[in-house]
Amino acid sequence: MPEVVIRPREPADVPALTEVLWEQQPSSRYPFRNPLPIPVERFLHVDDAVAAWTATVDGLPVGHVCRTRPPRGFAGAEEMNQACATAHACDVDELAWIATLFVGLGTRGLGLGRRLVDTVVADIRASGHRPCLEVLAVHPAAIALYTSSGWQPVLQLRPGWLDGVGDDVPGVQVMVLPASAPR
Ligand SMILES: CC(C)(COP(=O)(O)OP(=O)(O)OC[C@H]1O[C@@H](n2cnc3c(N)ncnc32)[C@H](O)[C@@H]1OP(=O)(O)O)[C@@H](O)C(=O)NCCC(=O)NCCS
Repeated sequence: MPEVVIRPREPADVPALTEVLWEQQPSSRYPFRNPLPIPVERFLHVDDAVAAWTATVDGLPVGHVCRTRPPRGFAGAEEMNQACATAHACDVDELAWIATLFVGLGTRGLGLGRRLVDTVVADIRASGHRPCLEVLAVHPAAIALYTSSGWQPVLQLRPGWLDGVGDDVPGVQVMVLPASAPR
């Protein structure tokens, strides 16, 4: 049986995670923009993640998730934070955002995505924060994962980071995981 492990991300994982990310992008459209308008290290939150995890199979990185502080610096960010704070009945500073979830093509459907989300949610709750995320409608597997875990939509909008992308592209769904949800 292959050995599956979810462990804190190490700096040495970044090149392998970058390869996994781009290998699955043409079929998933995640990241939505290819090429990215920012360095891939910024997309992976190498420098600003509060915490990040790598999923490995037999020691090889195959998946990733991280948590960040509330987003700032683009149109819609404040609206997103306020919607989540209202839904959680807390201050914006108490929010934690889940980001950059992906699993490589060869290891999909094995429960790794769910384990990564469970890991980051447990960490967020242990630190007394409240889980939030944004997801594009073009990522149905992620939406199914979140919805089946109790995540609830609180806002739909077109954030500034989608500027320059065609108007036919839907905006993002902002979601929160209520305290009453099992995960
Ligand atoms: C979303 C993603 C991380 C799921 O990873 P995974 O390891 O294959 O997921 P799991 O095996 O843990 O499955 C968990 C749940 O996801 C949903 N899911 C997974 N693959 C799915 C698919 N192809 N279609 C619909 N739902 C799917 C199901 O609800 C599943 O629960 P179930 O097994 O009880 O039915 C993976 O598909 C991926 O990397 N997608 C591209 C990146 C992306 O969209 N990221 C989201 C950023 S917001």
